[in-house]
Amino acid sequence: MSTANTEQRVALPMTVPAQAITAVPMPEAVTIYEVGPRDGLQNEKAVVPVEVKAEMITRLLDAGLPIIEATSFVHPRWVPQLADAAELMGLLVDRLGDAARRMPVLVPNEKGLDRALELGLEHVAVFGSSTETFAQKNLNRSYDEQFAMFSPTVRRARDAGMDVRGYLSMCFGDPWEGAVEIDAVVRAGVRLLEMGAGQLSLGDTIGVATAGHVQAMVAAFGAAGVGPERIAMHFHDTYGQALANTHAALQVGITTFDASAGGLGGCPYAKSATGNLATEDLLWMLQGLGIETGVDLDAVVATSTFMAGQLGRPSTSAVVRALSGA
Ligand code: HMG
Ligand code: MG
Repeated sequence: MSTANTEQRVALPMTVPAQAITAVPMPEAVTIYEVGPRDGLQNEKAVVPVEVKAEMITRLLDAGLPIIEATSFVHPRWVPQLADAAELMGLLVDRLGDAARRMPVLVPNEKGLDRALELGLEHVAVFGSSTETFAQKNLNRSYDEQFAMFSPTVRRARDAGMDVRGYLSMCFGDPWEGAVEIDAVVRAGVRLLEMGAGQLSLGDTIGVATAGHVQAMVAAFGAAGVGPERIAMHFHDTYGQALANTHAALQVGITTFDASAGGLGGCPYAKSATGNLATEDLLWMLQGLGIETGVDLDAVVATSTFMAGQLGRPSTSAVVRALSGA
């Protein structure tokens, strides 16, 4: 008779042991750029109360996340979920001071920048599209008009001493236009960098990227003189590829990854976009690879469990479910 039924099952490890197995050199440390409060909550059907947003952000800060994108200064009619941006940032600045002023906020134009400047914020992100159709749907501008809108915004933000990130959406595929040429993404990305963006975040808005495509993209930017230190990867997990894509990006020198606590997220103007790569899933893999982040995984899981309670549904993150017993 087999002993398998009678033996006590060995408890699964609740922390991940670090054992790097790859022959390819990996970075020693990675910066996680948390987008849950913005990319996550912008897509919720119900508007999350401002106090809950503030608590989520404060918990994420306490968990050690070095960069937390807090909200968007966009038109409230376009994203009603974030219509409380000024109230939220005012509240956070009162409570957290400089730590809140350093939190990036999305601004599409000079009007959004003015709102951020009024509050003394120090870090903004403009967000463009690699494709014509998404520029129109997300920004009500043509592909070229979006750059005309960003140019004075970025220049004034830089003159005011702000950090500026440039997002680019639909870098790996577009639900209306299909495949997106790598060269087109490089051209759009270089435009944002030449305008003055310090960092470029390449968005896989609808989660269709695969590992080889990611490495080819980084190589193409390299050939255009843009090294991996200027690029962040922004993966959505629609097709379950976000971690594989992250691993591929690590191998070619990317060290900044966008992620969303609990895997919240999507994009209100791209219906096929589902949640972002979950911060917890990313942390689990990075810890397993022995890569430093300075982030406390358990504290992020506790935040996502708190948010799951507020939103009335469990987190989609496999790691949150495994560690919280949900
Ligand atoms: P528009 O309707 O063309 O705006 O929208 P406008 O320039 O014609 O101005 C119309 C009115 O809006 C004016 O007011 C402006 O003052 C006002 P009125 O004179 O009629 O009283 N207005 C504003 N009010 C507040 N804040 C502002 C602002 N700008 C103008 N910033 C606009 C153009 C860009 C404003 C609009 O399309 C918009 O707000 N879009 C935002 C869409 C959005 O936030 N999408 C989600 C974020 S992107 C994303 O999720 C992708 C990402 O995660 C990466 C990835 O996954 O790929 C970043
Ligand atoms: Mg996104």
